[in-house]
Amino acid sequence: MISVSNVSMRYGSKVLFDEVSTQFIAGRRYGLTGPNGAGKTTFMQLLSGEMEPQKGVVVRPRKLGVLRQDQYAFDALRVIDTVVMGNRGLWAALEERDAIYSKAELTDEDGMRLGELEGIVGEEDGYTAESDAAILLQALDIPDDFHERKMSELQGGQKVRVLLAQALFGKPQALLLDEPTNSLDLDSVQWLQHFLLQFEGALIVISHDRHFLNSVCTHIADIDYQTIITYPGGYDDMVLAKTQVRSRLEAENAQREKKIAQLNEFIARFSAGTRSSQVTSRKKEVERLQTTELARSNIQRPYIRFDMLRPSGKYILAFEQLSKGYDGTPIIRDFSAEVMRGERVCLMGRNGAGKTTLLKSLLANVPEHAEAGFTIDGGGAKWGHEAQIGYFPQDHLGSIERGITVAEWLHRFDPKAAKEDIRGLLGQMLFSGEEGLKMTDALSGGEAARLIFCRLMLQKPNVLLLDEPTNHLDLETINALNIALQRYEGTVLLVTHDQDLIDEVGTRIWHFEHGAIEDFKGPYEEYMAATGAAAR
Ligand SMILES: Nc1ncnc2c1ncn2[C@@H]1O[C@H](COP(=O)(O)OP(=O)(O)OP(=O)(O)O)[C@@H](O)[C@H]1O
Ligand SMILES: [Mg+2]
Repeated sequence: MISVSNVSMRYGSKVLFDEVSTQFIAGRRYGLTGPNGAGKTTFMQLLSGEMEPQKGVVVRPRKLGVLRQDQYAFDALRVIDTVVMGNRGLWAALEERDAIYSKAELTDEDGMRLGELEGIVGEEDGYTAESDAAILLQALDIPDDFHERKMSELQGGQKVRVLLAQALFGKPQALLLDEPTNSLDLDSVQWLQHFLLQFEGALIVISHDRHFLNSVCTHIADIDYQTIITYPGGYDDMVLAKTQVRSRLEAENAQREKKIAQLNEFIARFSAGTRSSQVTSRKKEVERLQTTELARSNIQRPYIRFDMLRPSGKYILAFEQLSKGYDGTPIIRDFSAEVMRGERVCLMGRNGAGKTTLLKSLLANVPEHAEAGFTIDGGGAKWGHEAQIGYFPQDHLGSIERGITVAEWLHRFDPKAAKEDIRGLLGQMLFSGEEGLKMTDALSGGEAARLIFCRLMLQKPNVLLLDEPTNHLDLETINALNIALQRYEGTVLLVTHDQDLIDEVGTRIWHFEHGAIEDFKGPYEEYMAATGAAAR
C-alpha cells in the first residue's frame, strides 16, 4: 500500500496540491487522471520518492517499479542495462563496485567498501541480474539480439516494452506507470491491458486514453483543483459521478444566487431607513453566501487554428522510388506517390512499420528539420513549389531547447512578431500570464506539445507533418487538434494510432503493412469498406 498524508506542493504561485491525503491499496488498479499540467507526473514522482513533498508524508513499500513519461531518457544506454537499472539499489552498488575495481591500487577502505557492496549485490540477486533481465525481456517479446543494442535504436513500442521490463525488474510491490500507451499501436495497447490485469500489487497508471482506463482500472484517482478524489470504477464511471456532483452543486448554487438577490433587494430598499440592524445582518448573510463559491470545473479548452502564410503550389510532394532501411534491413522499399495540395494523409500501421522513417526521409533535405546523420538509401522525395513545412516530431519534448522561457523559445521562430501576438498565442494554448514565463525545462509532456502547436500557429506553414501529435495530450486538446486539422486548408501528413482522428481528419490512407505501404485515395471509412476489414 502507498499512503499519502497532508501532502502539499507548489511551483511559484501555482499550487498543484493542497493538503492531499489518499491511499493506494494492493490488488487495485488506479488510473491517475487530470488535464495536462494538473500535476500527474509530479504526483507520481512524490509517490516514487523521486521528489520530496514540500509538506506532508508519503509512505511507500520498499520496492517500486516506475515507468517515466519521457521514453527517450535512456537512449544512450544498452537495453539490458536499462532493465537492470530498474533495481536502483543494485544498480548503484554495481556501478560503485566497478569504479573501485577499475582503480590502479586499492586502499584498505576500498577493500572494506567492496565487501559491503558485494553484500548488497548478493542480497539483490545481482549475480543473476543480466540473465533475469534477459528472461523478462523475452517474456515481453524483445528478442535476444536486441539486448546488447542501444535504446535509441529501438522504436517506440519496443522501448515501452523495455521500460516495462525495467519497472518490473526486482519484483516490485507497486507499479507506477506514466503514460505507458504513448506511441503504442492498438495491438500493443491490448497486449499491455492484458498484461496489467494480471499484476497483483498496487498499480497506478497515468493515461489520457479513455478506452485503456476503462478496461484496466478498478479505481480512478482524479486530480481536481489541488486535491485528489478517488472514484470506484473506470474512467466513464468517474465522469458520470463527477457530472452528478456538479449538477447538484449547480442546483445549490442557483438556490444561493436567488437568496442573495432577495437579500440584496431588502438591503437596497431599507438601507437608508430605520431598519439598520436588519440591514447589517443581511449584509453579513450575503457575504457568507458569496464566499462559498461554486466548485470550478478543471476542464480548460485550448484553441488551435492553423492558418497558412500563403498556399503552396498544387503539386506539393512527390515520392520517387524512395528506399530506406537500417543496418541492411529495408523498411521502405521503392515507394512512389504524389500528394496534392489540401490532401490529409493518415499514416497508420503497427509499431516499427516505418511511419516515422518516412517522415524523416521527407525532411532529409530540408535544412531546418533534417535529423543529423539521417540519409536516404535510394530514390527521394521532391517538395513542390512554395512548400513551407511545419513539423511536429515524435520526440517533441526533446525538440524544445532548455534553459529559456516558453515565450522566448516561441519568439525565436519569428523575431519580428509583436510581444502581444506571442502572448496571445500562448494564452490560446493555456499558457496565460505567468505561465508564459515558465522555463522550458519545467514543461509537462502535454504542455510541451501545446507549445509546439503555438510554433506551428506562429509560422503558418502550408504543409503539416505531424508524428503522433496526440501522445501526451488530454482529451480537450485532442479535440481541439481534430477540429483544427479538419479546417486547415493546407496539406497534412499525420502519423497516429488515434482511430477518431484517422476517421475524421484523413482524406487518404497510407497503411504500412507487411513491409509495404498501401495507398488508398479516400477516407478511412471507405478504406475499411473496400478492404472488407471490420472496423475496430
Ligand atoms: N521545476 C518546476 N518548476 C516550475 N514549474 C514546474 C516544475 N516542474 C513542473 N512544473 C509545472 O507543474 C505543473 C505540473 O506538471 P506535471 O508534469 O506534473 O503535469 P502532468 O499532469 O503530468 O501533465 P501532462 O499531462 O502534460 O503530462 C506544470 O504546469 C509544470 O509546468
Ligand atoms: Mg505528465
